[in-house]
Amino acid sequence: MDTIIYKQDLATPAQLLKSGQVVAFPTETVYGLGANALDKEAVKQVFAVKGRPSDNPLIVHVESFEQAKKYIQTIHPLAEKIVQQFWPGPLTLIFEIIPGSLPQEVTGGLTTAAFRMPNAKLTLDLIHQAGVPLVGPSANTSGKPSPTCAGHVYHDLQGKIAGIVDGGNCQVGVESTVLDLSNPEAAPMILRPGAITREMLADFLDMEILLDKHLVKESETPKSPGMKYKHYSPNTPVMMVQPENLAKAVADLKAQGKKLGLLASPKQLVGLNTELVLAYEDESVEAATKGLFAGLRALDEQDLDLILVTTTAETGLGQAYMNRLKKAAAQKIYEV
Ligand code: TXA
Ligand code: MG
Repeated sequence: MDTIIYKQDLATPAQLLKSGQVVAFPTETVYGLGANALDKEAVKQVFAVKGRPSDNPLIVHVESFEQAKKYIQTIHPLAEKIVQQFWPGPLTLIFEIIPGSLPQEVTGGLTTAAFRMPNAKLTLDLIHQAGVPLVGPSANTSGKPSPTCAGHVYHDLQGKIAGIVDGGNCQVGVESTVLDLSNPEAAPMILRPGAITREMLADFLDMEILLDKHLVKESETPKSPGMKYKHYSPNTPVMMVQPENLAKAVADLKAQGKKLGLLASPKQLVGLNTELVLAYEDESVEAATKGLFAGLRALDEQDLDLILVTTTAETGLGQAYMNRLKKAAAQKIYEV
C-alpha cells in the first residue's frame, strides 16, 4: 500500500477514514493513528498496524463534547466544568459508556471509554468532514517513542496505512493527560500525566487531585491498561542523568569507551563534547517535553552505545516529562 501525505486536502483523507481505512492525523500532543471509531474492522486494522495488545483501549477523538455524549452513560458532576475549561486540549476523559454504543475493540472490553477533543483546527475539521469520531492511538509502532511530526509516522508505518495528514510539529510533544471521571461519586483521578497538570486541575477545581497508585508506586497495576506496557524506547539504551551530574557522567562513560549521545537543554550542554549532542529549544520544561520523543528518535538513528537524557523536577509538566523519560530509560539513572 502506498502511504500518501496530505498537507492541504482534508476531503480525501476524510473520505478514506469514512470508508474504513487507517489515516494518521496531527494533534497538539502527538500524531494519532486514525480510524472510524464506529467501524470495528477499521479499529482492528489500527491494532494490527501498530502491533498493539488488544486489551489496551483507544481514545475516541471527538469534535465536541456533544458528540461524545452520544456514547456516555453517566456524566460526572464536574465534567461540564472541566470540559469548558480544558477542551479542546490535551486532556482525555474516561466515562462509563452506554452498553454496546462503541465496538468492544475500542474499549478493550471495558465498560468505560476515553474521549478527547484535540486542540488543532486541522484535526477538528478532519473529524467533522469524516462525520464520525476517530480512534487515535499514537501513530508509532507499539513500544517506540510517539511521533511528533509526519516524518516520524512515515518512518514507522509507511506502506502499512493509507495516508498521513501533515500538520507540522506537535506543540506539546507527549500524549494527553488521562483523567478518570467514570465514577460520578469519586474525585477525578489522573491515570496518565500530561500537559494538563495535576496542579492545574487542583487549582481550577479547588480540590486535591489523586494520581493512580501505579504512578506513585511502580509495583501497582495501573488502572489505565496502556500504562503497564514498556513504552517509548528507542533501540539504543537510554539512561537518565541529573543535570548536576551530567559532566561527570559524560567523563565516566567516555572513559569506559562508550559512544554517547546527549539530550539536554542548551545551557546544560555547554562545554560537553561527545559523539552527538542534541539540545532542546530552550531551558524550559515545555521545550524539554516537546523535544523528548523527537530527540530520542534522532539519536536512535545514529550508531551510539548509550543516550543520556537530563531529568527535571517532577512537578507541573515535569511530571509528564519524567513519566515518559523513566519508561524510555527503563528507570535507569546515572549514579555518582
Ligand atoms: O495525546 C494523546 O492522547 C494521543 C493523541 C493522538 O490524541 N493519543 C494517545 O493514545 O496517546 P494512546 O492509545 O497511545 O493512549 C491511550 C491511553 C492508554 O494508556 C490507554 O490504556 C488509556 O488511554 N485508556 C483508553 N481507554 C481507557 C479506559 N476506558 N480506561 C482507562 N484508560 C484508558
Ligand atoms: Mg501510545
